[in-house]
Amino acid sequence: MMRTALAAAEAAGRVLLERFEKGVSVQHKGPVDLVTEADRLAEETIVGQLRKQFPDHDILAEEADHGRQPSRYRWIIDPLDGTTNFAHGFPWFAISIALTMAGEPALGIIYNPFHKALFRAEKGQGAFLNDVKLHVSATDRLDQSLVATGFPYDRKTSSLNNYDHFVNFQQAALACRRAGAASLDLAYVAAGSFDGYWEMKLQPWDMAAGILLVEEAGGRVSDFTGGRFDLFGAEILASNGRIHQAMIDILRQGKQPGFGRSNDPASQ
Ligand code: IPD
Ligand code: CA
Ligand code: CA
Repeated sequence: MMRTALAAAEAAGRVLLERFEKGVSVQHKGPVDLVTEADRLAEETIVGQLRKQFPDHDILAEEADHGRQPSRYRWIIDPLDGTTNFAHGFPWFAISIALTMAGEPALGIIYNPFHKALFRAEKGQGAFLNDVKLHVSATDRLDQSLVATGFPYDRKTSSLNNYDHFVNFQQAALACRRAGAASLDLAYVAAGSFDGYWEMKLQPWDMAAGILLVEEAGGRVSDFTGGRFDLFGAEILASNGRIHQAMIDILRQGKQPGFGRSNDPASQ
């Protein structure tokens, strides 16, 4: 399964790079939510290869409904994470492919084809970047930490827009980054570059591969209160483990940690 998923990610990487170099036409899914032909073509490439090899597996992908299968194996795919960056010629985007078994992440790949950075993890087997084993950082002070986040697509209309947490982390941490691709934020927590990361209102395909990478690199993933992470929930907090409680304490100061997707009509 890893071999097939890697081949699919590499094939989709070629599709994205070719389009990235030529430039693509951009459409709007929402006021600030873009999609390009590259998103769709990369998804078709990945789904085509996985379907051929595993016709009975379930597939959940961002851009299209590929028909659901009653299988304990489910592939969760973001064919292009960082579409806004991609559409603006900023080379910070990735393909994210995860496999869950009975709902638990078993395999994850995050591939940035522009930088030839291939992250992969298998449950119990560690996390790797191009064959180098990854470990989360050892930083244990938030004021010495580089943390990352992102903002939801409904940020202009919802008051649950992460602005309050961003300001609080800017004050408490060494520095805060918003690079524009959630999967890569998680991959670089696993790599020890970011000490922590939080975001709200993400989709399962933004997170499924990344959470396995972080855990396999020795880090911790939870909701904003430190409770069990829910792949279909609305909050993610990932860290090296050592600054996790300090990050929970900051999140507690902002708007209601622990909100659910269903409490926020603007995100429906
Ligand atoms: C987005 C990126 C971004 C995050 C957004 C995501 P997309 O994914 O991961 O960093 O802040 O909320 O939706 O739309 O580029 O696949
Ligand atoms: Ca995404
Ligand atoms: Ca996407």
